[in-house]
Amino acid sequence: MVIERTLAIIKPDAVGGGVSGEILARIHKAGFRIVAIKSLRLTKAEAEGFYAVHRSRPFFADLTTFMSSGKVVVMVLEAENAIARWRDIMGATDPAKAAPGTIRREFGSSIQNNCTHGSDAPDTATFEIGYFFPGVDLI
Ligand code: CMP
Repeated sequence: MVIERTLAIIKPDAVGGGVSGEILARIHKAGFRIVAIKSLRLTKAEAEGFYAVHRSRPFFADLTTFMSSGKVVVMVLEAENAIARWRDIMGATDPAKAAPGTIRREFGSSIQNNCTHGSDAPDTATFEIGYFFPGVDLI
């Protein structure tokens, strides 16, 4: 098994809804090491840069407005198979389709307002970690 890193975000709906602590508790319980963590409010332009891969999607404008609507918690998580494991714990993108017990099923309210984000592949994780923690020596 390879030790991986992934970027996780607790989105504005979850921070505003007061469930960040519960989500962090699940991250700890699952055995991830939190390599880096910060709380910030994204500008619309920063949200657009982060989700640039979705620029041509019909939901891009609403997504980036949502992501810049309040504070987020951004983390680098480390574990064996961190990318797939964090995605399993989050559940499917659409909370209505996410498995019982997953974060999105329990705390998400729509396919957009789905509580959390996680990188979907190693190259995406590298881009996303560098986007939020540029030039930081993550040990
Ligand atoms: P995330 O995992 O952060 O990756 C892209 C985000 O776009 C996704 O979570 C949702 O918040 C949002 N998203 C994906 N598909 C849709 C959709 N069909 N309609 C609205 N928002 C979407």
